[in-house]
Amino acid sequence: MLKLNARTVALVETEILKPDDINIMRCASALKAGELVAFPTETVYALGASATDAQAVENVYEVKRRSHDKPLIVAVAKKSDIAKIVKTIPDKARILIEKFMPGALTLVFDRASCIPDAVTAGTESVAVRIPNNKIAQKLIELSGAPVVVPSANTADKASPTLAKHVYDDLGGKIRFILDGGESEIGIESTIVDIRTDPPKVLRAGGVTVKEIEREIGRVDIVRESVKLSGYMPNAEILFSAFYDGMVQNICSRYDEYVRTGKTAVIICLDKNISAYGSRTAYSLGNSYEEYAHNLFAVLRKADAEHFDAVIAEGVDPSGIGESLIARLIKLSGGMII
Ligand code: TXA
Ligand code: MG
Repeated sequence: MLKLNARTVALVETEILKPDDINIMRCASALKAGELVAFPTETVYALGASATDAQAVENVYEVKRRSHDKPLIVAVAKKSDIAKIVKTIPDKARILIEKFMPGALTLVFDRASCIPDAVTAGTESVAVRIPNNKIAQKLIELSGAPVVVPSANTADKASPTLAKHVYDDLGGKIRFILDGGESEIGIESTIVDIRTDPPKVLRAGGVTVKEIEREIGRVDIVRESVKLSGYMPNAEILFSAFYDGMVQNICSRYDEYVRTGKTAVIICLDKNISAYGSRTAYSLGNSYEEYAHNLFAVLRKADAEHFDAVIAEGVDPSGIGESLIARLIKLSGGMII
């Protein structure tokens, strides 16, 4: 299907490809030639471009409609490649690399000179991760260079957890989407700035702060401003502060919307769905891992169905719950109920 772009990025036909060896090779060649390729990682889908090709990186900003002051994460295929794109690897970084890479952890280092300004938004740092997804690893390895890996959505949309989400946002703007099925984790990587001691957690994600502190001791947590740029759903998001005894409160919020002629959907754990009676409720699964895995897809669905409000159940702050809470507070713009 051919689509016209409003901006300067050329018309392209987007192909969704099965991730077999031949197609991974085609995508690696496309990356080498400066084209953009979306591919699965275990967190969310990435929009890849060669990190050493400043024009390709510029095109990433263009197609994502991303603000130029927001740097891109760079992915490499294996641990020994990290040293090639950073100045130094502090001891605590070495510990975290051993323990969590490949995986859902991104570390911020001082950048080496081979990483162009376009990647780092002019800062002297570079954020690095190694995806655990085998398709991603093969693709990056074959492309022969580090690859930028922002989430493969436009700036106004949730991170994609399916090839279809990528196509909905970027169809007509990029050459290839490698279809690796559903993203395993469903929320983005945890970002830790390892240049300071204690290191700073800039974004809580797939690896929990507790897991990190178990390895390297105390870290500082930088609380993101809830008004930070980034995806905001069309629907109002209300997030319950409680996970015990929350049903009554959620029901009365829902009923208020309905009374005023608006539509709302409750998103909840499967075991709670019957408590909401005839109210519209979507299940996120049976565990907080499944809640994280399904969250972005359910929010896309709620937006596509034009709900005025999404009321999200509260989350137990243990394990991945802690990262989920950070996401939901941000998404709700502080509308905690
Ligand atoms: O799981 C993930 O990290 C996914 C997968 C696809 O790799 N990527 C992702 O990228 O979430 P993106 O661009 O949607 O979010 C990257 C975040 C942004 O908030 C950006 O500001 C921050 O990482 N970031 C990138 N480079 C940075 C740097 N050098 N210093 C501080 N923050 C950085
Ligand atoms: Mg993103």
